Amino acid sequence: MAELLRVENLKTYYNTLRGIVRAVDGVSFTLRKGEVLGIAGESGSGKSTLAWSLLGLVPPPGYVKEGHIYLDGMDITRMSEAELRKKVRWKKISMVFQGAMNALTPVYTVGRQIEEVFKIHAPHMGKQEVWNRIYELLESVGLHRSIAHRYPHELSGGQKQRVVIAMALALEPDIVIADEPTTALDVVVQAQILNLLKRLQREKGLSIILITHDLGVIAELAETVMIMYAGKMVEYGPADLVFTRPKHPYTEALLKAIPRLRGPVDKLIYIPGQPPDLTRPPPGCKFAPRCPLAMDECHEKEPPLFKLVDGRLSACWLNRNEALEAGG
Ligand SMILES: Nc1ncnc2c1ncn2[C@@H]1O[C@H](COP(=O)(O)OP(=O)(O)O)[C@@H](O)[C@H]1O
Ligand SMILES: [Mg+2]
Repeated sequence: MAELLRVENLKTYYNTLRGIVRAVDGVSFTLRKGEVLGIAGESGSGKSTLAWSLLGLVPPPGYVKEGHIYLDGMDITRMSEAELRKKVRWKKISMVFQGAMNALTPVYTVGRQIEEVFKIHAPHMGKQEVWNRIYELLESVGLHRSIAHRYPHELSGGQKQRVVIAMALALEPDIVIADEPTTALDVVVQAQILNLLKRLQREKGLSIILITHDLGVIAELAETVMIMYAGKMVEYGPADLVFTRPKHPYTEALLKAIPRLRGPVDKLIYIPGQPPDLTRPPPGCKFAPRCPLAMDECHEKEPPLFKLVDGRLSACWLNRNEALEAGG
């Protein structure tokens, strides 16, 4: 399958009064057409910042410090705001922002809000053409076309999330980034939204970057999984391998933290300790202070991203003996 997106050594920082927050600190990966990449990690690990970087939408005081993002061979990090608007956002990559379903404007109907996307980004389209497309979009996400004439407060959470996904699909992008798309929804609706994303991937050959703090959410959908910790990619590989035989102790901890639907709530296992302060990360492995397997050297020397025999990447000294070569 053709490669759509290539991210090379991306570093996105925030300049704050407390110091420089290294929110994304040297992340590299590629995304193929039709691939579903799941990005998981605790809150604050840099997932949203990574997503915003891909759209050139890092909010100030943040900025892309280093690295490249190639989309169809063009480097997004070198593009002007006007170019990003004309060539990238909505048309190539669109994003369902964290909490977007609650940010729909209460005063306009759903249809009017989708119409706005076309007015701004596809002004050449006629009104009738736009409205036909709006109905078609709503149907493609499993909603009745009459929803176009309803106001957001008349819709359920699941319906609103479908509307926001329909909006992201408006200009037929190649890549949709969904940032915590199911977090606010109950488990039944959560499963419906994940099924919808799966269907869209299959039917439209869409590439999806699915971001969540809950590994359970991407278990169903993702073909490839990236685990982020403290701005770094600590494990990356095919989902079946990452889920069945995790190589990084942090991945293992995250897997144990997946809420079990039928288990008693008090059995929930949280990962002890806190992620590091990203203005003053520890010198060695960022996870070492919380890692049950940490050795002396883990506190001193940061492990490289080892490429393992099975094709996976893992940034843990324990994987040294299985490594083919040390990557970035
Ligand atoms: N506007 C901002 N100014 C300063 N720091 C920020 C800003 N936005 C995010 N951060 C910091 O960047 C890090 C990564 O945040 P974020 O990308 O939101 O992580 P995630 O989406 O994984 O929860 C966190 O330490 C967060 O506090
Ligand atoms: Mg986030």
